[in-house]
Amino acid sequence: MSRRVGVGIIGCGNISPAYLQSAVAFPILKIRALADTDPVAARARGEQFSVPVASVEDLLADPAIEIVLNLTTPQAHVEVGLKAVMAGKHVYSEKPLGIDTVEARQLLECAEARKRRVGCAPASFLADVHQTCRRMIDQGAIGAPIGGTAFFMCPGHERWHPSPAFYYLRGGGPMLDMGPYYITVLVNLLGPVARVAAMAIQPHATRTIGNSPLRGTVIAVEVPTHVAGTLHFHCGAVVTLTMSFDVPKHRHTPLEIYGTEGSLLVPDPDLFDGEIQHATLGGEWIAVPNEHGADEQSSRAIGLADMAQAIRARRPHLASGALAFHVLEVIEAFIRSSDSGHFIGIESRPMRPEALPVNGQH
Ligand SMILES: NC(=O)c1ccc[n+]([C@@H]2O[C@H](COP(=O)([O-])OP(=O)(O)OC[C@H]3O[C@@H](n4cnc5c(N)ncnc54)[C@H](O)[C@@H]3O)[C@@H](O)[C@H]2O)c1
Repeated sequence: MSRRVGVGIIGCGNISPAYLQSAVAFPILKIRALADTDPVAARARGEQFSVPVASVEDLLADPAIEIVLNLTTPQAHVEVGLKAVMAGKHVYSEKPLGIDTVEARQLLECAEARKRRVGCAPASFLADVHQTCRRMIDQGAIGAPIGGTAFFMCPGHERWHPSPAFYYLRGGGPMLDMGPYYITVLVNLLGPVARVAAMAIQPHATRTIGNSPLRGTVIAVEVPTHVAGTLHFHCGAVVTLTMSFDVPKHRHTPLEIYGTEGSLLVPDPDLFDGEIQHATLGGEWIAVPNEHGADEQSSRAIGLADMAQAIRARRPHLASGALAFHVLEVIEAFIRSSDSGHFIGIESRPMRPEALPVNGQH
């Protein structure tokens, strides 16, 4: 068996170039083929990156492909993931793992029965800045964690994305789209979530696409687009979180964590770099030196590369299906809490991901 791990990409849309560029930075990865139900999209990406194009069926039948990188829209993640696992492949999916925990559980159970791995984005928690924050919390830089705030708020992806309809269909919305970044980074910093209380509203029935080629097209909204709530972690900390596609402008930082002895400004969980600031009780904010810079271009495939290395090393991978399932259960709990008016207990309780050594990967 080759040292490199063969990868086939299904889904050749907007995010695929970021993976194709980043994969070059990880010698363990060999992108062997691209496929998409839209042959035009697949051909264009294949020509752009000089990668062979195949039908979905042929890609799944290729014995040189060990991992299917699933970059389809969220509504197709489980369908494509199941096909990959049934074809004997490991699968690494863009977030979210599925559009609800019922279908996501089906994928995890099917993979477990066939001894295949499931990995899932986001993997920004593996970036050095987020691992530095993790080390600081573990080493007591803020004392015992008490709480925090997490904000992603924008006027909506229909302003820039060329085909944004999926963001507003069932399986879309700001919680399923952006929640995974924030909640995954929070679980890395604070451990798993115990319960959630939230409210969600849908201020608009339709949205209008602002970018070509569909500029001016009106799309339906099926999901709440302004979601606010509170996460109570098993460690005792309480974090306030708002995810919104309805906010024209704001001045909140993406993520702040407070403890008995200090506070931490954590870089944007959607990014692989950024400034960390730390303040001790009574002190001023101080920038924390960033040991290893990183950018999206080289980092987007970091979770996929870790899974490939883990396959060869026969160790668990870090951006795991179990972690992504927990994140999805928390996201779902926000909507369930809003609908029911109750606190929602979280049943899954994955291990907090293992911290990376100071110089990066395993
Ligand atoms: N666009 C971004 O900036 C971004 C960033 C991070 C993560 N993501 C995630 O990446 C995923 C893809 O997003 P995107 O923006 O690239 O979407 P996109 O709509 O631009 O591309 C998705 C592609 O998947 C194909 N596809 C859909 N269903 C399929 C199926 N069943 N079989 C084969 N191909 C299928 C579509 O034809 C399309 O070409 C989403 O889960 C999204 O949450 C996107």
